[in-house]
Amino acid sequence: MFHPALFKGANVVVTGAGRGIGLETARQFLDCGAHVLLHGGRAASGPLPDFLEAAVAEARAHIVYSDFLVEGGIGAILQRVDSLFPHVDVLINNAGTMVGRFPAAELTDEQYETIVRLNQTSVVEVTRALLPSLRRAPSAAIVNTVSISALTGGSPGSAIYSATKAFVSTYSKGLARELAPDGIRVNCVSPGTITTDFHSRYSSAEKLEATRKTIPLQRLGTAEDCAPAYLFLASKALSGYITGQVLEVNGGQLIC
Ligand SMILES: NC(=O)c1ccc[n+]([C@@H]2O[C@H](COP(=O)([O-])OP(=O)(O)OC[C@H]3O[C@@H](n4cnc5c(N)ncnc54)[C@H](OP(=O)(O)O)[C@@H]3O)[C@@H](O)[C@H]2O)c1
Repeated sequence: MFHPALFKGANVVVTGAGRGIGLETARQFLDCGAHVLLHGGRAASGPLPDFLEAAVAEARAHIVYSDFLVEGGIGAILQRVDSLFPHVDVLINNAGTMVGRFPAAELTDEQYETIVRLNQTSVVEVTRALLPSLRRAPSAAIVNTVSISALTGGSPGSAIYSATKAFVSTYSKGLARELAPDGIRVNCVSPGTITTDFHSRYSSAEKLEATRKTIPLQRLGTAEDCAPAYLFLASKALSGYITGQVLEVNGGQLIC
């Protein structure tokens, strides 16, 4: 648990915060005093969790829904940011998913475009759209979600998804150098195997159990394990001399 005033008065944008890693990260920013715009994914699904309903009522949390795969999806985020915040202190680019497991020979053009547009192009577009707001902050931080699969290539059927995460990792390193003169740090969090809806969609219970056995800490990760890494990399007080890095959060699943 970080200090409850660590992000007091900071304006934070988290994409893909409808559930899983993004929602927990947004919750922890709120616990530390931030104002948070949560991009809740494509559309609302069910009632908000209690903590979020309370933060919305206090006007400390705001929610926008938009599909990054449709025309205008990124623009909706920008519009909302501009109407809420004079500047953005922290941008967490987290929205993404594997979309499916597609054997290389059967991958269609549409599947390929969807995976790349969601996991790769949207990160470039959201970052480009919010850069003027980030530049207006006294010192800003961007934290991008990548994946252990950016280094390993992932498991069968996820090669394109894994490659998009490697793209975001390299893009972040390039941005870190480019934006350092503006006082903007850019880093990544790289989750290992984290028990969110993501794996209930793409991995069988048997596959997850086999993976668990290979992890030195002998358990799968949780969104709660990941969120502090985002807050650490977003905080100038905690990581002000760290930029262009990838923080692996995987229980030792990959040590290199
Ligand atoms: N879980 C893991 O083991 C793991 C490992 C490595 C990396 N990651 C990465 O971590 C990030 C968060 O994943 P998670 O595990 O928390 O998964 P999750 O629970 O499936 O959350 C993914 C988020 O992305 C949003 N999203 C998906 N498609 C979208 C679209 N077309 N337009 C806008 N938003 C969209 C989802 O909203 P909807 O409600 O619209 O679907 C949701 O809010 C992702 O980038 C993922 O690739 C996860």
